[in-house]
Amino acid sequence: MTQSRIALVTGASRGIGKAIALGLAERGFDLALNDIPKQKTSLENVAAEIAAMGRQAKCYFADVSSKSEVENMIGSIVNDLGTVHAVVNNAGILIASEVETLPEQAWDAVMDVNAKGTFLVIQAVLPLMKKQKYGRICNIASIGGKHGAPEQAHYSASKAAVMGFTRVLAQEVGPLGITANCICPGIIYTDMGRVNLDDPATRAIWQSRTAMARIGDPEDVAGPVAFFCSDDSAFVTGQTLNVDGGIVLS
Ligand SMILES: NC(=O)c1ccc[n+]([C@@H]2O[C@H](COP(=O)([O-])OP(=O)(O)OC[C@H]3O[C@@H](n4cnc5c(N)ncnc54)[C@H](O)[C@@H]3O)[C@@H](O)[C@H]2O)c1
Repeated sequence: MTQSRIALVTGASRGIGKAIALGLAERGFDLALNDIPKQKTSLENVAAEIAAMGRQAKCYFADVSSKSEVENMIGSIVNDLGTVHAVVNNAGILIASEVETLPEQAWDAVMDVNAKGTFLVIQAVLPLMKKQKYGRICNIASIGGKHGAPEQAHYSASKAAVMGFTRVLAQEVGPLGITANCICPGIIYTDMGRVNLDDPATRAIWQSRTAMARIGDPEDVAGPVAFFCSDDSAFVTGQTLNVDGGIVLS
């Protein structure tokens, strides 16, 4: 594509989402930035950083687990920016709890944001991508969706759902010029990642399990996501790429 491309990144106010948004801006994308209203100031700061890089960035506040909010958001993006070429479903939550005591509401909340949110955003952007016969979809799953860890059964289930969803989506949209892939981050130092990292002993264990012998930074995830959002990955679809410094060696 020669025209300026527009990427939507959900959960873009901090952590991995912020790094992905900045990484895409560096590579010439204009950005539609999403997060929940509570993150207003942080999201606007990310937009200002992107504007300072000479790219366009607009903020859209919506809960990705709400169909009406997602549809309104996509409508506003079309009004403001014209279309969406790439979508990164990054918004996610983690509520640690063992299965036996896991409240039903926590199961629902994690599935709603991580799995249903991904589906709702894709459903809302697909008509645009079909019309332009072009689209790049990158869903952020997790190595937790492959092997997981105690107190994360519901999180693991939600991320496994994202991977399964993406593999079938790839088959449905491939003939339309749209690719759909997943990234599985490993242990990345963010507000969410601190669950695994605040305790020095736990941190040391994760570090020792990583071939690169270090904890990941949000910026480590940005490059692989940009690859899936670019034309360099035009013939790559339905894939799941671990970005984990070598925790999962498969
Ligand atoms: N940090 C890690 O170690 C790690 C590992 C594997 C996967 N991931 C995944 O990477 C993604 C980003 O995680 P992070 O570590 O940057 O977490 P984070 O908590 O720092 O950031 C998540 C962002 O998503 C936003 N968000 C939450 N619920 C939302 C909703 N309903 N609608 C819109 N936005 C919402 C939050 O406000 C926040 O800005 C998540 O999908 C997470 O599951 C993280």
